[in-house]
Amino acid sequence: MTPNLRQFVTAHSRRINQLLERSLPARIPGGERLLEAMSYSLLGGGKRVRPILAYASALAVEGDMQAPLLDASACALECMHAYSLIHDDLPAMDDDDLRRGVPTCHIAYDEATAILAGDALQCLAFEILLQCEAPAAQVVAVAREFARASGAGGMVAGQAIDLGAVDKAPTLELMERMHVHKTGALIEAAVIMGALAAGATEARILRALRTYAKAVGLSFQVQDDILDVTAETVTLGKRQGADQERNKPTYVSLLGLDGAIQKANQLHEAALFALQEFDESADTLRDLSAYIIQRGA
Ligand code: IPE
Ligand code: IPE
Ligand code: MG
Ligand code: MG
Ligand code: MG
Repeated sequence: MTPNLRQFVTAHSRRINQLLERSLPARIPGGERLLEAMSYSLLGGGKRVRPILAYASALAVEGDMQAPLLDASACALECMHAYSLIHDDLPAMDDDDLRRGVPTCHIAYDEATAILAGDALQCLAFEILLQCEAPAAQVVAVAREFARASGAGGMVAGQAIDLGAVDKAPTLELMERMHVHKTGALIEAAVIMGALAAGATEARILRALRTYAKAVGLSFQVQDDILDVTAETVTLGKRQGADQERNKPTYVSLLGLDGAIQKANQLHEAALFALQEFDESADTLRDLSAYIIQRGA
C-alpha cells in the first residue's frame, strides 16, 4: 500500500466506523438480540473497501468531501455489504463458521437471528440514504444506483448463479457473470454513488468511473478466489480452502493460480486505463486498484 493510500484508508476507516456506530438504532425494545447481532456484523471489522472507494471516487471528481450524502452512501454500502456476508455464510449458502477472525453471525447467535440481522441491515441501508439531508433528486439517483446493484439485477443474481454452479465447471463466461454480479455490482455502485453524492454530473466522467469500477469490481473477486488458495486462515479471517472444500468454481479452479493472477493484473491495467483522463485527484483510486489485487486478506 502506498503511504498516501495508507493515510487515506486510516482516516476514512475511522470516519466510516464512527458513522456506522451512530447509524444503528440505540435500542430495539424486545429485539436486543437482533440489535446485538446487527452490531456484531456491522462493527466487527472488515476492510471497509466499499466506503473507501466511494470516498476516493468523490476525491477523483474533486467533489464535496463533506457532503452528507457521501457519508450516508458510505454507511449504506457497508450495511448492505454486512448483510450480504451474514447471508452468504449461512448453512443454506456457503455454510461458513469463521468471518473476520471470529465466528460468523449465525454461529455467534443463531440462524434465525442472523437472517433477521441481515434483513434489518439491508433496510437500514436504504433508511440511511433516504433520511439524508440532500437534494431529493440526488438522493434518488444514488438510491437507484444502489438498489439496482444490490438486488436481482446485481449482487443477489450473482449469489444465485454462485449457488447454482456448485459441483459444476461453468464456462468462463458464466463465471465472469457470476463474479461481476455477486461482488462487482456493489463495488461499481460504490464508485458511482461516491461521485454522485459528491456532486458529479458529467456523463463522460461517470462513464470513465464506471469502466474503472467494473474492472476493479471483478478484480476484487478474482483476488478473493486467489486468497482462498494462497492465504492463511489467520490472516484471511475466513477458513482458507473453503471454496475448494465446497467444490465452488472459482477463477483459480477454472484458470489455475497463474491464470487467475494474470487476469487480476489485466483488470488492474484496464482500471488504470479507464482513469487516463483524470489528473492526480484520481491517484487514490489508482492506488486502490493496485491494493485490491495485492491485498493479503
Ligand atoms: C468479502 O468482502 C466478500 C466478497 C465480496 C469477496 P470483503 O473482502 O470486502 O470483506 P470485509 O468487509 O473486508 O470483511
Ligand atoms: C461473496 O462471495 C459475495 C457476496 C455477495 C457476499 P464469497 O462467498 O466468495 O465471499 P467470502 O469468500 O465468503 O467472503
Ligand atoms: Mg459465497
Ligand atoms: Mg462465502
Ligand atoms: Mg470467497
